[in-house]
Amino acid sequence: MKTYRIAVIGLGQRIAHVLAAMKEVGWSLEVAGQVDPAPVGAPILADAGIPMGRNFADPATLLAAGPYDLVMIGSPNHLHLEHLRAAFAAGCPIFAEKPIVRTEAETFALARQLADVKTPPLYIGLVMRSMPIVREVIARVDAGELGTLVSMDATEHLPPEHGGYLARNWRRRQEWGGSFMLDKVCHDFDIFGRMSRARAARVASFGGRAIFHAGRVDPPTVWSDGEAAYAMRDAGWMGANDAFHSDMDVTDHQVAIVEYDSGLRLSFHSNSHVSLQERRWYVSGTHGTLLADLVRNKLMIRPGLSRAKPERIDYANRTDDNHNGADQAMALDLLAALEGRAAFPVTPQDSLEAGLTVMAIDRAQETGQMVDCAPMWAEYDAAWAPKVAEPGLIA
Ligand SMILES: NC(=O)c1ccc[n+]([C@@H]2O[C@H](COP(=O)([O-])OP(=O)(O)OC[C@H]3O[C@@H](n4cnc5c(N)ncnc54)[C@H](O)[C@@H]3O)[C@@H](O)[C@H]2O)c1
Repeated sequence: MKTYRIAVIGLGQRIAHVLAAMKEVGWSLEVAGQVDPAPVGAPILADAGIPMGRNFADPATLLAAGPYDLVMIGSPNHLHLEHLRAAFAAGCPIFAEKPIVRTEAETFALARQLADVKTPPLYIGLVMRSMPIVREVIARVDAGELGTLVSMDATEHLPPEHGGYLARNWRRRQEWGGSFMLDKVCHDFDIFGRMSRARAARVASFGGRAIFHAGRVDPPTVWSDGEAAYAMRDAGWMGANDAFHSDMDVTDHQVAIVEYDSGLRLSFHSNSHVSLQERRWYVSGTHGTLLADLVRNKLMIRPGLSRAKPERIDYANRTDDNHNGADQAMALDLLAALEGRAAFPVTPQDSLEAGLTVMAIDRAQETGQMVDCAPMWAEYDAAWAPKVAEPGLIA
């Protein structure tokens, strides 16, 4: 089997976990080089028995030492566009973490670039696409088992340690992470767009900081068993020490409603400090209803007028990282894509559209206004449109 020479830009926890999963499912790989001022993923890589490779000062020198079979980008979100452009110039296949980019302006710029220039294959780590339960949800919807999708509600509720980590890590700042919802639930909105085969038409959202802020009087800091709370993980690059006294400017809870142009209506509820963890999609159509519990990895579905018991599928395979085997499944998808055996389950376009949907939700939350998404999609589609030569110019 071919040994993949891999270059990494941003060797944090995520890329280290993905590399470990790739090795676990049978990839033969070598990290030939990496760029990272202080690789947070080093201990994870060491645990997986993968040598770190040579450290380079910047992407240009790393990529000049190529070619590589794969460039993996796992830097904080505000650096994705810059790092993608460097990797495009090198011409090697790219795996980049989600969200593909951080702002609407970056989305339009990247769409223009993808439309104008032939770029190497680009695979985005919207890892839920590779989960067996999610594949089944999409297959059942595509098969028409729910009929026309009418309405749905969805949640993403994080346990306190996860929320406390977000409040200390670079994700706490819009300038680095984008937003709480962009970083956390662009996955979910990617699937909702895919299920409905529609785009958000109108969105509204409310959210704020009610958990991790300096105004809290004596917030609890110790678990019931005496263990210190909110200190579980090293906060990493640009980390802050205290979840309640950081310079966080993203929300710690947020709700949103979305009306898709297909007519599907969705409500979404997310909170970064709950004692009953949940990630759940409840989807109802004219002919049936489906409930996907992404934490417990269980699916329930029943036709609209059935008096039989609902069909239940337990995917088991629950893991502590809540990814429930998704990373390993994505590692296999990535290998299949690179070997030309199958298309990767998500495209850059899907990733850009999921990001824009969440960005519209955040705009609604920030402005307190309902957002009509039509102008945003028009600008996005224009970015992809073939460019017309200016009159008088020879093309
Ligand atoms: N698909 C998923 O389920 C999933 C899960 C977690 C994170 N992510 C994504 O992965 C990316 C990384 O997140 P993470 O959790 O690994 O964060 P992290 O903080 O663990 O890692 C980020 C790394 O980037 C490095 N870095 C900072 N500036 C850099 C620069 N100029 N050049 C190169 N490296 C630089 C940091 O030193 C750090 O090692 C983010 O885009 C995040 O949204 C995806």
